[in-house]
Amino acid sequence: MTESINPLYNTEAMKHSLRTTIVDNTACGGQWNRLEIEAPEIAAAAGPGAFVQVRAWTGISPLLRRPFSIAGTCGDSLIILVKKVGTGTRIITALDVGAEIEITGPLGTNFSCPGPEQSVFLVAGGVGIAPLRFFIERNPDADCTLFFGARDSSELAVLDDELFENINLKLTTEDGSAGVKGLVTALLAEEMEKSDSAIVLTCGPAPMMKAVAELAAMCDFRCEVSMETYMCCGIGACMGCVVPAAGDASGYLHACTDGPVMDSTMIDWSRIK
Ligand SMILES: Cc1cc2nc3c(=O)[nH]c(=O)nc-3n(C[C@H](O)[C@H](O)[C@H](O)COP(=O)(O)OP(=O)(O)OC[C@H]3O[C@@H](n4cnc5c(N)ncnc54)[C@H](O)[C@@H]3O)c2cc1C
Ligand code: FES
Repeated sequence: MTESINPLYNTEAMKHSLRTTIVDNTACGGQWNRLEIEAPEIAAAAGPGAFVQVRAWTGISPLLRRPFSIAGTCGDSLIILVKKVGTGTRIITALDVGAEIEITGPLGTNFSCPGPEQSVFLVAGGVGIAPLRFFIERNPDADCTLFFGARDSSELAVLDDELFENINLKLTTEDGSAGVKGLVTALLAEEMEKSDSAIVLTCGPAPMMKAVAELAAMCDFRCEVSMETYMCCGIGACMGCVVPAAGDASGYLHACTDGPVMDSTMIDWSRIK
């Protein structure tokens, strides 16, 4: 393993930049793969919500590293869950065990730890399940309910994981092929009505998180969102990832350094489509 391969990332914000190897790469079904990457320093420093920037190709295409949430740790390795959507994710999911990979992290902010006996509503859409999986791994005794919204049943393969076995799971699919038909926020609203208090942690498409943040505000529940915007540098240098800041009509936050995890009240949701 080689440390600090890229001088751009030799900053305080960045902890480790490694050239390392794939320890395991398992197709989980659907478009998902679960990869384990040897990275002891990153695994030791990582907290739920943090992400890594990954590059697994030579040449200039794709040009940029790709960001992935840390989905867990396994000894000296990091776990990432990768859904194939384009060139970069197809290359990463096709890597053999032992293949070289460049990885930078841990980057960004973490979800808060729950207080004792605090109920936690985890709300995931699609690839947003990854950082919430890490939250469950790190908080095994927390009283968690996981709301998972998927387009169809093919996206549920990622839940076939013993970590989710003892979790109270509320499932929705948009086409009704599994769980309750409809949007995950409808189930969340029902549960919120029955609950006195809970912290809401969410990661998924921006419209889903906007709806979750609005529900949380109505019920006066604290809410943290993980903003998975498009990213370029991952270290606050390019403005590629900005999200509109609350209370400042022309202000922006960097999802990569102010986030990805932020209190939902930090964001001006009216400027998010
Ligand atoms: C902080 C963060 C954490 C992430 N965690 C995960 C994760 O744990 N697992 C995972 O599978 N993916 C995750 N993503 C998304 C992942 O980075 C993108 O899917 C990936 O970069 C796409 O690369 P590609 O070369 O395969 O696709 P491209 O060829 O670049 O694009 C393919 C398609 O995906 C869309 N796309 C690309 N990036 C994004 C994005 N950030 N948001 C919405 N649509 C996008 C493009 O518009 C295009 O339609 C995360 C993104 C961020 C910013
Ligand atoms: S990705 Fe470059 S500033 Fe955030």
